[in-house]
Amino acid sequence: MPEFNYKEYIKKFEYLSEKVLLRKKQFNDFVKFLKQKTEFFDAPASTIYHLNMEHGLLYHSVGVAETLLKIKSALMPELSDESCVICGLFHDAGKAGLPGAPLYLKTKKGYEINKNLVEMQVAIRSLFLISKFFDLSADEAQAITYHDGQYIPQGRDVAHRETPLLTILHFADFYTAHIIEQDMPIIHHPSFIK
Ligand SMILES: [Fe+2]
Ligand SMILES: [Fe+2]
Repeated sequence: MPEFNYKEYIKKFEYLSEKVLLRKKQFNDFVKFLKQKTEFFDAPASTIYHLNMEHGLLYHSVGVAETLLKIKSALMPELSDESCVICGLFHDAGKAGLPGAPLYLKTKKGYEINKNLVEMQVAIRSLFLISKFFDLSADEAQAITYHDGQYIPQGRDVAHRETPLLTILHFADFYTAHIIEQDMPIIHHPSFIK
């Protein structure tokens, strides 16, 4: 696993924040809410799959925003940095849980899911939280809601009708969680048969 340093990721978060121009106040208000009312900056990214550690959600969210910006500059430079930063940083905001009800509880054995929380899919909770603060475009709302793509049954709702933003957010999320966070080496296996 690569090294993760909280202070470094807070700096990266601040650097990414500067790319939000049109919805600066909405962004600042949402960050203030996340800091004061939720566990967003301390929570893990998962209890089992990836970055099951303190601040893991911050590390993952920053990583996805960075990967998303790289993909967008290669494939669709006309897409705004602002959209990428909002969707990248906050697609998993639902993992912070709700005010007074974090999704992940720290126990002696590690993090566990809080069963005492109104049940909904994480991405829906992300949309629920984000849309209270941001005026989202329909593309951004679709990208946040369906960012897991076809890995979960709900992805079928938009199969073959994904917007470009959803397509690259899904891939940035997948690539960041499965390749970058796991430090998976890129190896060319000589799999051909002689
Ligand atoms: Fe997610
Ligand atoms: Fe994610």
